[in-house]
Amino acid sequence: MEFFSLVLYLLLTYTLLTLLSLLSRSRAGPKLPPGPAPLPVIGNLLKLGDKPHKSLAELAKIHGPIMSLKLGRKTTVVISSPALAKEVLQKQDLAFSSRTVPNAAHVDDHDKYSVVWLPVSDRWRSLRKIMNSHIFSGSRLDANQNLRQKKVQELIDYAGKCCQDGIAVDIGSVIFTTSLNLLSNTIFSVDIANPNQDSAKQFRDLVWQIMVEAGKPNLVDYFPALVKIDPQGIRSRMTDYFKKMFELFGRLIDERLELRRLGESGGEKDVIDILLNINEEIDRTHIEHLCLDLFVAGTDTTSSSVEWAMAELLHSPDTLDRAKAELEKTLGKTKMVQESDIAQLPYLRAIMKETMRLHPPAPFLVPHRVETDVEISGYTVPQGAQVLVNAWAIGRDPSVWTNPTSFMPERFLDSDIDIRGRDFELIPFGAGRRICPGLSLAVQVVPVMLGSLINSFDWKLEGEIKPEELDMDDKFGLTLQKAQPLRVVPFPL
Ligand code: HEM
Repeated sequence: MEFFSLVLYLLLTYTLLTLLSLLSRSRAGPKLPPGPAPLPVIGNLLKLGDKPHKSLAELAKIHGPIMSLKLGRKTTVVISSPALAKEVLQKQDLAFSSRTVPNAAHVDDHDKYSVVWLPVSDRWRSLRKIMNSHIFSGSRLDANQNLRQKKVQELIDYAGKCCQDGIAVDIGSVIFTTSLNLLSNTIFSVDIANPNQDSAKQFRDLVWQIMVEAGKPNLVDYFPALVKIDPQGIRSRMTDYFKKMFELFGRLIDERLELRRLGESGGEKDVIDILLNINEEIDRTHIEHLCLDLFVAGTDTTSSSVEWAMAELLHSPDTLDRAKAELEKTLGKTKMVQESDIAQLPYLRAIMKETMRLHPPAPFLVPHRVETDVEISGYTVPQGAQVLVNAWAIGRDPSVWTNPTSFMPERFLDSDIDIRGRDFELIPFGAGRRICPGLSLAVQVVPVMLGSLINSFDWKLEGEIKPEELDMDDKFGLTLQKAQPLRVVPFPL
């Protein structure tokens, strides 16, 4: 009997608290977008599960393309349709373009210098301008084309060695290393991820660890009162990793300054020279934080795109055959893809779009935030709310795409839809003023790496796994990774 009283008591308390919570929602004044009823204290946190991009897509089917949730103390609005994404990222772009800063980004005041985390402000504009004109402009990218080609050649040489030895290549891992070296050469003219050097391997692991920590859901972000306790130790580990990264950047900058003092450098050989030359616009602290941003934002995104593309091709061999046929016809067997070839390879470009439709590396973009109440679609997004644009859900919306979960690159062959932030049904790089500044680099590098891998070898899944048995499950983190790393064995063509 006592047991039943206890159950009854708990049920009543639960119902009362839920009602109170619902009442407080409706009494809040502004009309919030609809959403699931939050529980006291934790709100809707339990609804997220370990794949928030999927859980929130499911919830949007019930509550609609604009919905609100309470994640701990944080009001979160989720956008899941192209029309509303256009409203947020283009029509009301300015109102929605601030950032929700995770606790881990406060380490070393990174949030005060980082182009990723700064709100739209003079400092942010100046950093974006520097990137657009000195790092990602057409002429800058052209100037570094040979360097990128050299790094892709090294990737193919590495795969060639695995081919000789008959061993598998971990695609995500080698593309991550290639992307790191590509960036470190663009910025500092050095390889800092050479797998044959211990110090370089440590750097690679360091960037990787930062990705892992930054991708973990942190309780402090939902319950700011826990900030001093740091229950998962994320901030403490990040402090250690950031210290090591800044030591390395500091050393590389000191070495360059010393060379310049000796008159042995001072031209514009790489990004660090350019940044040191424009030091009235950007000081040393900003340079170090910008390097961190570029390494973190530019590596995992690229490697996850190439890994997913290879996985999809091996999963559906017809698409792989078609890609190989196009490469062979246009370039000839075993030729590496050059950036200038991409315009002649429509199927390869379609594979990149289709991969980013199904597996956008940043499924919610980078969380946006509103600084004042904003009206949208008859609802109010309240001041301080975090805004997630579910690019993953939009890319699989059956009202937009036929056979939305099938990998069909040919859907893009007769279509104008592009990934550059103009077409809101496909926004892997975001859109509007916070669109990815590395887009122009990524759309060159991803097809060159992918096309060169495909056109240089025949690939078979390790362990004689059949194409249809390949595990295509994903894992949510800082970027959307394959749950099981793709391991494939190269064979001579
Ligand atoms: C921001 C995607 C490669 C640097 C972003 C955003 C997305 C994205 C979705 C956030 C947009 C928003 O908040 O609305 C991608 C994808 C890539 C890629 C899919 C490759 C496949 C790169 C590369 C770099 C880079 C290669 C630089 C080397 C940045 C930076 C930001 C950013 C600095 C922050 C911009 C800001 O907040 O103003 N990227 N990115 N990304 N990306 Fe990329």
